[in-house]
Amino acid sequence: MYLQKLQLRNYRNYEQAFAEFSPQINVLIGSNAQGKTNLLESIYVLALTRSHRSNNDRELIRFGSDFARIDGRVLRSSGGADLRLVISAAGKRARVNNLEAPRLSQYLGKLNVILFAPEDLNLVKGSPALRRRFIDMEFGQMSASYLANLSQYRSVLKQRNAYLKQLRLHQAKDLVYLDVLTEQLSGFGGKVIAARAHLLQDMGKFAAVIHSEISHGAEHLALRYASQVPEAAHTDAAAATTELAALFAKHRQRELDQGTTLFGPHRDDVQFLVNDRDVAVYGSQGQQRTTALAVKLAEIDLMKQETGEYPVLLLDDVLSELDDKRQTHLLTAIQDKVQTFLTTTSLDGIAREIIQQPAIFNVHAGVLTKQDGF
Ligand SMILES: Nc1ncnc2c1ncn2[C@@H]1O[C@H](COP(=O)(O)OP(=O)(O)OP(=O)(O)O)[C@@H](O)[C@H]1O
Ligand SMILES: [Mg+2]
Repeated sequence: MYLQKLQLRNYRNYEQAFAEFSPQINVLIGSNAQGKTNLLESIYVLALTRSHRSNNDRELIRFGSDFARIDGRVLRSSGGADLRLVISAAGKRARVNNLEAPRLSQYLGKLNVILFAPEDLNLVKGSPALRRRFIDMEFGQMSASYLANLSQYRSVLKQRNAYLKQLRLHQAKDLVYLDVLTEQLSGFGGKVIAARAHLLQDMGKFAAVIHSEISHGAEHLALRYASQVPEAAHTDAAAATTELAALFAKHRQRELDQGTTLFGPHRDDVQFLVNDRDVAVYGSQGQQRTTALAVKLAEIDLMKQETGEYPVLLLDDVLSELDDKRQTHLLTAIQDKVQTFLTTTSLDGIAREIIQQPAIFNVHAGVLTKQDGF
C-alpha cells in the first residue's frame, strides 16, 4: 500500500500543506526544527490515530488553532481509501471515505505504517513497557482480533485492579465477583498471549534471516517471548488461559495484599538473543543497533504476511545513524516494494547510487515544497 496524497491543516508547525508522493522513496530535506519529523508524525497519526512522540493530542494542534486535520489518500491493491483525522479539544474524529468511524477497530489497518527513529534503539535497551507498547501497536495494526482481545483485556484489568484495591481497603467483600473478573481476565489474557507468541515466532524467523545477512552469518538473532506463563503454553490460547488462571489461584492472597493484578500479559516482555545471549545485557552498541534494524525490517515482512500488503515505512533521521553497510542493507531491503519517507538535513550522508530518482521535498518553517530533479 502507499500514501498517494497528504493534506495537513493546522498540524504542529504546518498551517497547511499538500503533497503527492512517490510510491517509492520520498526524501524530506530541511534544517533542524523546520517540520520534517512533524510531517512523518502526521502520517503516523493518520495511520494510528495517536502520536509516537506524545500522549497529549493537543500538542498536535498548531499553536493558536483550535483543531488539526490530516487527510490522506491510500492506495492498495484492492483499491483506494480516503482517510481523515480531525483533532480538537472535543477529541478525535476519524473518517474513512467520508464515513465516520466511531470505533478504532473500524479505522486501524486502513493505512499501515512502520516508523523507525533513532530512539528505536531503545527497543532493545529500554524498559519492558516500551517493548510491550511496540508489539501492541504493531500487532494491533496487523490483526483486528488481537486489538479487540487486547482492549477487552485492558478493560477487565482496570476493573479487576480497582476491585482488588477496594477489597484491600475493606470497601468490598464479595470474593465471588473477584472470581468472575479473574476468569474473564484469564480468558482474554490467554488469547493475547497466544496471538503475541504466534506473531513473535514469525517475526523472529524474518528477523533472524535479516540479522544473519547484516552480520554476514556471524550472528544468530532469536526473539523470545518472556511471560510468567510457562513457554509450553504460549502458543495455545486455552492452555495459556489455564496457566494464567492457575497463577491467579496460587497467588490470590498476594494479590489481595497488594491490591493489584500481578500476573498477565501486561507484565510480559520480549527478549532479543544474539548467539543465545540477551543483547540488551551483553550486546555492543553496534549489535543492539543491528538487532533493532533487523526487527524493524522483519516487521515489514510480517505485515505483508498478515495483511497481504507492504506497509509504509517512515525513517526519521535514521540513515545518518547507520554505517554504509547497514544503510545499503536497509535501502536494498525496501527498494521497489515499500513506500518510504525519510528525513535528513542533507543528502550528503545518503548513498546516492541506491536511491534512484527519489521524490525530494524541502521542508522550511512549516512549508513543504517539492523539488524538481535530484
Ligand atoms: N503545536 C505546534 N504548533 C506550532 N509549532 C509547533 C507545534 N509543535 C511543534 N512545533 C514546532 O515544530 C518545530 C519542530 O519541528 P520538527 O520536530 O518536525 O523538526 P525537524 O525538522 O524534524 O528538526 P530536526 O532536524 O531537529 O529533527 C519546532 O520549531 C516546534 O516549535
Ligand atoms: Mg526531526
